[in-house]
Amino acid sequence: MTMMKKLKMTAAVLALSTTSVVAQEVEVLHWWTSGGEAAALNVLRENLAEGGVGWTDMPVAGGGGSDAMTILRARVSAGDPPTAVQMLGFSIQDWAAEGSLANLNALAEEQNWDEVVPEALQRFSTYEGDWVAAPVNVHSVNWVWANTALMEELGLEQPESWEEFVAAMEAAQDAGYTALAHGGQAWQEATVFDSMVMGVGGPEFYQDSMIDLDPDALGSDMMVEAFERMDTLRGFVDDNFSGRDWNLASSMVINGESLFQIMGDWAKGEFVNAGLTAGDEFQCFRVPGTEGTVMFNSDQFAMFEVSDDSAQEAQLAMASAVMSPDFQVAFNMVKGSVPARTDIPSDDFDACGQLGMAQLAEASANGTLFGSMAHGHANNPSVQNAMYDVITAHFNGEFDAETAAEELVLAVELAQ
Ligand code: GAL
Repeated sequence: MTMMKKLKMTAAVLALSTTSVVAQEVEVLHWWTSGGEAAALNVLRENLAEGGVGWTDMPVAGGGGSDAMTILRARVSAGDPPTAVQMLGFSIQDWAAEGSLANLNALAEEQNWDEVVPEALQRFSTYEGDWVAAPVNVHSVNWVWANTALMEELGLEQPESWEEFVAAMEAAQDAGYTALAHGGQAWQEATVFDSMVMGVGGPEFYQDSMIDLDPDALGSDMMVEAFERMDTLRGFVDDNFSGRDWNLASSMVINGESLFQIMGDWAKGEFVNAGLTAGDEFQCFRVPGTEGTVMFNSDQFAMFEVSDDSAQEAQLAMASAVMSPDFQVAFNMVKGSVPARTDIPSDDFDACGQLGMAQLAEASANGTLFGSMAHGHANNPSVQNAMYDVITAHFNGEFDAETAAEELVLAVELAQ
């Protein structure tokens, strides 16, 4: 970023704090299209509207955001980037490396982001020391969502080991229910796979395989076992799983058709949106085998470089709104995630939110907090996509577990 651009952004921050309402507008590209996600997005949209910032919606459906990223690339190539973009982990770094993102340092300094945003998130929100994105939340993927009434009907306690988890699903299946609600899309399989890798091999194995991409770990017996666990799960999904959206899988647990769903805590947004209460009508617990660890992803808003002054002011107004403590509470209670700031009390959150906040802090202190491969926080998008391909091909019966581990080694090697 040139000195001139930096000065302009600083001037815009000053304008933000001193002027009253001006005609500002943000165009926001995002993939928050499910009921719970849309409700959360509305919290942001209304917050901005109160500050006089208009909203042009650019939704691109598709959990995990791959489709949104494809559209983004096309928009940028056409010389027409949206002003603000929902973005995950390594994608933020890639766009920053291309020099496409605005520098938010002046606002970050004024609002002390350095102090309040957890290190694990700053690693993605900053590029070469400059703030390039505002984190709105922290999600984590290693959750099971369970229907309480069904658990009671089947006489089930919360499973505490992989074996108990499998036994619970057997009980549900035997009773004629769909044991595991699942949507057959590559990113959903990858989301589940994160927890299988951690569950089988623990933190060191997750680090070696998913983050450091060590070929020995990727092709190891433990990886074969992770794929075998995917085979086990495959035996508990219904016949119509293929292509199903994740929120429709959540609905199956919500309406009592299905016992469990393994999904990130955006699923909680669906339960809450359906009027259900955490710890009462539905339960949340960590995927058995992954207790004590948290595999996270953080939605951030990256601001694309724009030349128009009022668009720059709107970007800063949005970044400022996103980082405000009150907003972080209001938004994350609806979204199912937890705040991207360390200074927010958990009192207003429901049982799952409070658990999530406590576990995030614990994992961060214990060195057991890891970026989710499935959601772009473990490795770059090309490696991530290569992993998606193998995981989903295996889940759909193309490879057995042993071949899948071999294919994973090859795919990752080629993608680097
Ligand atoms: C994740 C995103 C979440 C949630 C989910 C499903 O990648 O971080 O906010 O929206 O996709 O759409």
